Amino acid sequence: MCGIVGYVGMKSAAPLILEGLRRLEYRGYDSAGVAILNDNRIITRKKAGKIDDGLARLLGLQPAPGTIGIGHTRWATHGAPTDDNSHPHFDQSGRIAMVHNGVIENYDRLKARMKDHTFRSATDTEVLAHLIGIHYERLKQEAGGSELPLLTRAVTEALREVIGTYGIAVACADQPGLLVGARRGSPLIVGIGNDEHFLASDALAIAAHTRQVVYLNDYDVVTLQRERFQVANLGADTARVQITRLEIDPEAAEKGTYPHFMLKEIFEQPRAVENALRGRINHDEATANFGGLNMTLAELRAVDRIVMPACGTSWHAALVGEHLFEEFAQIPTEVEYASEFRYRNAPLEKNTLVLVITQSGETADTLAGLRESRRRGHKVLSVCNVVGSTIAREADGGIYLHAGPEIGVASTKAFTSQVTVLTLFALLLGRIRTLAASRAMQVIRSLEALPKQLESVLKQNDEIKRIALKYAAAEDFFFLGRQYNFPVALEGALKLKEISYIHAEGYPAAEMKHGPIAMIDEKTPSIFVMPDDALYDKNVSNLEEIKARKGPIIAITTEGNTELAAKVNDILYLPRTQDPLFPLLAALPLQLLAYHIAVARGCDVDKPRNLAKSVTVE
Ligand code: M6R
Repeated sequence: MCGIVGYVGMKSAAPLILEGLRRLEYRGYDSAGVAILNDNRIITRKKAGKIDDGLARLLGLQPAPGTIGIGHTRWATHGAPTDDNSHPHFDQSGRIAMVHNGVIENYDRLKARMKDHTFRSATDTEVLAHLIGIHYERLKQEAGGSELPLLTRAVTEALREVIGTYGIAVACADQPGLLVGARRGSPLIVGIGNDEHFLASDALAIAAHTRQVVYLNDYDVVTLQRERFQVANLGADTARVQITRLEIDPEAAEKGTYPHFMLKEIFEQPRAVENALRGRINHDEATANFGGLNMTLAELRAVDRIVMPACGTSWHAALVGEHLFEEFAQIPTEVEYASEFRYRNAPLEKNTLVLVITQSGETADTLAGLRESRRRGHKVLSVCNVVGSTIAREADGGIYLHAGPEIGVASTKAFTSQVTVLTLFALLLGRIRTLAASRAMQVIRSLEALPKQLESVLKQNDEIKRIALKYAAAEDFFFLGRQYNFPVALEGALKLKEISYIHAEGYPAAEMKHGPIAMIDEKTPSIFVMPDDALYDKNVSNLEEIKARKGPIIAITTEGNTELAAKVNDILYLPRTQDPLFPLLAALPLQLLAYHIAVARGCDVDKPRNLAKSVTVE
């Protein structure tokens, strides 16, 4: 949430920062701004609205020359998305500029101490900028002190008083040649170039300029100059600094010929699933292998319970995982909303494995769940997409998705990749217990067939679009499924809600008659995910109950079914697979339905209102 870019070097900073902010816009697009250091003054340009409508136009009309600067793209927490609330914010003197991602929780108490200060925004960030200014003025009066620049010391002192989360970048008109960055809870990366340094909340912003990065740790404070950088830590005598090589391809984060990232990422799913499977299947033993679990087979065998904290789409993938772990490995499993789990005193026994699921690896609640579990002495594994993300680094071990960058705010390929690796992990846990090789081999063969089957599902895009347009004016939708297909029903409802703003609910099909069926009328479509499985007839009964109340029905079922078409208004057929894998196929038409409905309604699919990718505040 919120993107930060900073630059110190010889190049013109504003265009470089603007380019970085564009790559980060999926993290927030309420407003954007830059502060550029120029001859002992700071030039600021900031504007509400998306980057191309606001900041980029402003910079076109009023360039901001200079080779050092900071920039920000905002997802509003405190204060409406207005020009005034846009970052950068300044201290009382107007000579220290700051951009911030996170929440300063004690901002009102700090502000109460600044009675004679004038504030220009409703943000918590501006209070921190003023606090840095106060310490800067105080330290200036004090003789001697450390070798660190005054700005670094002022930032350090201010952060000691802060409760909350932050990733910040700070520039001072009186400290030319340097920037200061710091993090706690929100990601921040230093990029090392030739005679230049970068600061970014996300590697994508700087990957086109450098592959050498340092992932900052919580409480790190970094001072960047053109020719050097220096990291200190608020809580330790020395900071841990490790230079890492970025393995991301910035071009993978381009839209190419697709009109939207979401559509591109939906169509990438056959390859994403292939990548998630690559090198992980062991045919000889009908099991899966993972390189980064950091747990022995004996330790995995001792696991007697799994708890999976996650949010949003990752939470839905975890729900599929719950079925898989219980069916294949007979391990009792619970899926937790990470935001609830982190504050609950959930009993975790000695052999409980905590498995956090996250695309970004930066979701604040999921990260807090991981930290709380580790604090209690539990092993935590992560299933994560973004390499080097905070969760991937802090977990004891984990599984990467290898899905490539997911830019669309609506998560798509991450879901199918997560379910794929959870299936593999469940096979591994099953095979070191009682799962028969013959059953495991059936699943493995079906997994290997998936990429081709997913391609065939994508070929139905025109038919899916036709159905989408038919129902695009509806204001309420139900998504229904049972067992493995209940989580994918929830996921279908979330996709529709978040990008088209249509009210949609996911339910286990049989739950409808316990209340929600009261909502059904001829204008409320229900989408049934109902393969030819053991519960098919039960789904048919639930479908009849809705039909009897005039509710239109769209069914997603298995190829070869010849009787369902006569009972429903519209129908889509998916290839036959093992029951546990049907959600992987069903996810695609649900994503495409949501996509086409949102486009038909004129919604901004990649930047839905009120949302941002990677929720780094709680
Ligand atoms: O990066 P994470 O997987 O931890 O993100 C979790 C949710 O914020 C995310 O899935 C969100 O719900 C998406 N917008 C869903 O499309």
